[in-house]
Amino acid sequence: MSNSKVQIFDTTLRDGEQVPGCKLNTNQKIVIAEQLDLLGVDVIEAGFPVSSPGDFASVEAVSKIVKHATVCGLTRSVENDIKVAAQALKYAKRPRIHTGIGTSDSHIQYKFKSNRDAIIERAVAAVSYAKTFVEDVEFYAEDAGRTDNDYLARVCEAVIKAGATVLNIPDTTGYCLPHEYGAKIKYLKENVKGIDKATLSCHCHNDLGLATANSIEGVINGARQIECTINGIGERAGNTALEEVVMVMKQHPYLGLDTNINTAMLYGISQLVAEQTGMHPQPNKAIIGANAFAHSSGIHQDGVIKNRETYEIIDPKDVGVTESAIVLTARSGRAALAYRAKNIGYELTKLQLDVVYKDFLKFADLKKEINDSDIHKIMESSPIYNELH
Ligand code: KIV
Ligand code: ZN
Repeated sequence: MSNSKVQIFDTTLRDGEQVPGCKLNTNQKIVIAEQLDLLGVDVIEAGFPVSSPGDFASVEAVSKIVKHATVCGLTRSVENDIKVAAQALKYAKRPRIHTGIGTSDSHIQYKFKSNRDAIIERAVAAVSYAKTFVEDVEFYAEDAGRTDNDYLARVCEAVIKAGATVLNIPDTTGYCLPHEYGAKIKYLKENVKGIDKATLSCHCHNDLGLATANSIEGVINGARQIECTINGIGERAGNTALEEVVMVMKQHPYLGLDTNINTAMLYGISQLVAEQTGMHPQPNKAIIGANAFAHSSGIHQDGVIKNRETYEIIDPKDVGVTESAIVLTARSGRAALAYRAKNIGYELTKLQLDVVYKDFLKFADLKKEINDSDIHKIMESSPIYNELH
């Protein structure tokens, strides 16, 4: 793997699907997994096999159909979880077990009523046991975002010795600031013996709206995998949005980071996941929101009509959106009205445009948005209508 390549680990079907109301059945998971595989994700986390018979069946079914990506199943550091995950992954071409345990003092004290040394022993035992089933074992240090760096480094060193191939450093509660999360990854890169044998992975939640920024800081500081979901769905405020981190790396080539993602599929797969989960992204959602390539103020519309790059940093086609939208509202100018009128067959001279624009503004003050049939009405009731035919 080249050093610039960042692996994309998609957890839409596991962490994404944990959201209330987003539950997916096996058939829905298969449909999404097929598209994720075509999209070019490196890993598909298909579920948490021990959690229910339905999730076991889904992980097994996804393992059978995925052609290229590694298929992964989540476990706790519990032998039975690991055994069940291994069974569910039996048919995967490239199986991965994702096991782990909470490492922050709060998790150790309140969740496990344990101590730091005993947690390391459980972590090592889980990884060693998982290694008896599969070669590829990812370890997660849950709540790593709030785990003391020295102790986290000890945990990482121990699980690498036990054979972990990937070290997941989750900011489970979405607490970290980007520079803190980046510094954590750098600290592990510099202080964990044997770190070159494993890939560091970012798994950031969005409680403070920082999941994308934190993941990007993570890869700038040496992580080479990002865990994310389509549309950023996931627990509470969600996970890192796949489409965002992928496009940040693509639009900033000087970072020297890239992915295997076919970005032209991003809009389509976003729509698919929204339909299947019933969770629709807000219109102003970056990259795939309905307004991500829509322009409604007169100044912006005039710029975009002259040259798209004046107000767009991404070519919509690069993410599978057919074209930028020039939305007509009472804030639109003459350039936008002329452009939209021309699209439906009215080529206006400057004088004609001046006349129609006044009528347009009266109409637009009464409506949120002017559509093509409104433009026809405005034209038909205008004194210049006969000149246009
Ligand atoms: O957020 C988290 O810590 C997780 C782990 C289970 C990987 O989802
Ligand atoms: Zn998570």
